[in-house]
Amino acid sequence: MKADELRQKYLEFFKSKGHSVIASASLIPENDPTVLFTTAGMHPLVPYLLGAKHPVGNRLTDVQKCVRTGDIDEVGDASHLTFFEMLGNWSLGDYFKNEMIPWSYEFLTKELGISPDRLAVSVFEGDEDCPRDVESAKLWEKCGIAKERIFFLPKKNNWWGPAGITGPCGPDTEMFIDTGKPKCCDSCSPACDCGKYLEIWNDVFMQYNKNADGKYEPLAQKNVDTGMGLERTICVLQGKKSVYETDVFKGALDLLEKLSGLKYGASDEITKAMRIISDHTRTAVFILGDDNGVTPSNTDQGYVLRRLIRRAVRFGRKLNLDKGALSALAEVYIEQYKHVYGELDRNKDKIIKELTAEEEKFAKTLEQGIKEFEKVVFFLEKAGQKKISGKLAFKLYDTFGFPIEITEELAKEKGMDVDKEGFDKAFEEHQQISHAGAEQKFKGGLADHSVETARLHTATHLLHAALRKVLGVEVGQKGSNITAERLRFDFNFGRPMTREELIEVENIVNEYIKADAPIICEEKSYADAKADGAIGLFENKYGEQVKVYTMGTFSKEICGGPHAAHTGELGRFKIIKEQSSSSGVRRIKAILEY
Ligand code: ALA
Repeated sequence: MKADELRQKYLEFFKSKGHSVIASASLIPENDPTVLFTTAGMHPLVPYLLGAKHPVGNRLTDVQKCVRTGDIDEVGDASHLTFFEMLGNWSLGDYFKNEMIPWSYEFLTKELGISPDRLAVSVFEGDEDCPRDVESAKLWEKCGIAKERIFFLPKKNNWWGPAGITGPCGPDTEMFIDTGKPKCCDSCSPACDCGKYLEIWNDVFMQYNKNADGKYEPLAQKNVDTGMGLERTICVLQGKKSVYETDVFKGALDLLEKLSGLKYGASDEITKAMRIISDHTRTAVFILGDDNGVTPSNTDQGYVLRRLIRRAVRFGRKLNLDKGALSALAEVYIEQYKHVYGELDRNKDKIIKELTAEEEKFAKTLEQGIKEFEKVVFFLEKAGQKKISGKLAFKLYDTFGFPIEITEELAKEKGMDVDKEGFDKAFEEHQQISHAGAEQKFKGGLADHSVETARLHTATHLLHAALRKVLGVEVGQKGSNITAERLRFDFNFGRPMTREELIEVENIVNEYIKADAPIICEEKSYADAKADGAIGLFENKYGEQVKVYTMGTFSKEICGGPHAAHTGELGRFKIIKEQSSSSGVRRIKAILEY
């Protein structure tokens, strides 16, 4: 069965069970600033899972574009992908386990023809938040799954969601293909990583809402949320060892073989490079081609996109690919997917233009950067040393455009590591120098620790939060400069703000000040900070541990400080100017009055 057929079959099957087919939502979450990309089919449906009425009914099905970049470094092996399609169906307070489990069984065994003795399932074993899911286990047994193929597992394995920090979630039942490998130990189950069981589908029984205190509140309506990985399932159905050997990647790999004159599978190195280029380019095409798509930059989604493209270019060099290879590959993907995702065709010019520009930008300095890197490694090896200095890593970033992750990867390939702290320090120093500007009077940013700058700095966070509230969460910081008299804040926004918007922003900041919220500083890892919903600027600037400043419920931001202790210390916030800073970037100057 080909990917197109599986997609079709899934939607047809659930249509026959009374579901309406809805379109895939954007890859850029529209209502959730806590995550960078849409990671599951349920993500755009959160308001409906919480009780809002969906315009086309309470049984939905779709194929959702998803990006998960947590495992970007694993891409190149047999199964990891940064982009995938999720087949899903939902009950919004309509059917529940009694219907869903028999449907899952029917689809897997009848429609896909998978024999029941190749299947295994897991169900939730129960804890203080939610009882043991005996009901699901019984339903599976009734369908025809042998008792010894039903595994009760804890929350770690059998609970799904929320997608961000708060939201709908619940116990799930997961479906696995038994690959036929021998058990790794007596307690071998789908919970171990031995590779015997491969997850292909997940039915979540979404009956809780995780609130900001981390508590699970029962939802008024019981939902079902399911997700099947298209690429993985196709891999199983086509009997392949790797997702890259399915029809999904055939066009891409054929082109890479043609362009490089090398054969996929000829060596581990060639295989890995071809997989990385195919995966990363496909993800880049979908991010650029989204109707809400972003372009490469140094923050948030734009930075992820930049990393993907640059990593693909670097691996392209290993295959001696010429410039333009990524855009040629993009054309293959656009052709392959445009009948499902029309936006790729609509946005084709943008995809090709941006990809070509980024590819060229990086290709220009890549060779030189690698030469520089290798020269240093040569001397380090001679001296028996194994650490790349932060200074070199910064030079590679600043002069040659190497995202720090690429330098780290290059180092790893040589059995070395990078002084990340040194890199962060060099980065910060550079920021301060470039902020010093013409005046030379102020060091800018955070160098001046007086009470006044601390207050203005706090006001900057509040302004940032208010702008996102009034203009939308796509608005983010592009620059900041503080003197003892005023703050200056640059942010991405495509037009001058209206008078009404300016007044609204000013009023919101003053409300935040009036609330006199305590300002709390916590130190945590960058990953935890992100997971907690902190907005982070200049993603690659920070080391492992970061400071997160929380101001009431309105602002949570990664930052070095210092800040006021309470928002009430700020006095009255006043915007004195709004003007253009550069293309697509606006600048606000504001003061605090007492
Ligand atoms: N939301 C569930 C998942 O992503 C179906 O696995």
